[in-house]
Amino acid sequence: MDGVERLDFNGNYTSLILGHAPAPVVKAIQEAAAAGASFPGPTEHEIRLAEALVRRVPSLETLRFTNSGTEATLNAVRAARAFTGRNKVAKFEGAYHGTHDSVLVSVAPDPSAAGSRRRPKPVPASSGIPREIVKHVIVLPWNDAEACEKIIAKEAAHLAAVLVDPLLGIGGILPPVAGFLERLRAVTAQHGIVLVFDEVISFRVAAGGAQERYGVRPDLTTLGKIIGGGLPVGAFGGRADIMSAYDPRTGGARISHGGTFNANPLTMAAGLATLAELGPAAYARLDLLGERLRAGVTTLFRKRKLAAQVSGVGSLFCLHWTGKRLVDYRSSRPSDPAAPLRVFMGLLNDGVLLSQRGLGACSLAMTEAEIDRFITALDGVLERAVA
Ligand SMILES: Cc1ncc(COP(=O)(O)O)c(C=O)c1O
Repeated sequence: MDGVERLDFNGNYTSLILGHAPAPVVKAIQEAAAAGASFPGPTEHEIRLAEALVRRVPSLETLRFTNSGTEATLNAVRAARAFTGRNKVAKFEGAYHGTHDSVLVSVAPDPSAAGSRRRPKPVPASSGIPREIVKHVIVLPWNDAEACEKIIAKEAAHLAAVLVDPLLGIGGILPPVAGFLERLRAVTAQHGIVLVFDEVISFRVAAGGAQERYGVRPDLTTLGKIIGGGLPVGAFGGRADIMSAYDPRTGGARISHGGTFNANPLTMAAGLATLAELGPAAYARLDLLGERLRAGVTTLFRKRKLAAQVSGVGSLFCLHWTGKRLVDYRSSRPSDPAAPLRVFMGLLNDGVLLSQRGLGACSLAMTEAEIDRFITALDGVLERAVA
């Protein structure tokens, strides 16, 4: 509309791993649409996408599809509550898991209202969330295994699930420090708490997601974004004994999971066509693009002597406007709160689309030339903004 052609590093918030309108995905959607847009029962596409996901992610003994990542995490939390008979849920400060009440807590809280770093207080991230629900959310400090173990052990009798985005995606792509996920796995197993990996974003870092990359097996996993090939999607699954609550064959399902458009055949076909493009060579290429971008941006920040950093894993990256060592939500907060928006707007004017908080993703539609264009555009923005 404004006549500027833009290079898209937002990728609909990391969901477009092949870029926009990739031919095999467009074809799959067209063929599925020609056969009927939706049906009140399973389709072949649904079964085939489920099989493809189960092959990639060994911890997914069984899975169910939803229309969004929000519904996926909602169901994972509900399944954990049903399985354990407990009500509380733990999540990390700075983590985003969608928009239902139990997770819309401490997403980007003001630290002055959020208690101490090692024992954060739950802060609602929206109005309209009942206080009783906020009280049922336990907030954990990312990458501090000792503090997490203490909090989890103390709350264990009431704790149904620990919800973990293994990369703290929306919180700034801050990878887990060595051993952190393993210690979460151990302490949750010890106390019979369901460990949920929310891989809605992190699934794109390997064929089997972050759980493959870091070698930790959760009890449940939630998925979304790339598995729908650009159409609305979510999925959740994992241990068969936990997921059996949804199974109508054993005297009626104990958890109701309706959804008029769940496992819509267009989405399923698009997801399957997308996964078909994502073999080992594709992941290697995405890693290289991400590494090139991070190396280029780091050189730029050094050249300009800025208190700024770029974090990331594989094709994912995030710009940070602080000189602090990046370990958790609090350390990644910008020293100048206006910097992320200023840079986002500068890049937007220069033909590069990122997310407002600085989170981005490389796609397979890109080459080294597009990565270099990003770095050049950022250099230009910094020249104007900083000089
Ligand atoms: C880790 C994570 N979980 C869940 C969600 C929610 O997914 P959706 O926007 O499809 O509801 C998101 C969205 O960004 C996410 O990043």
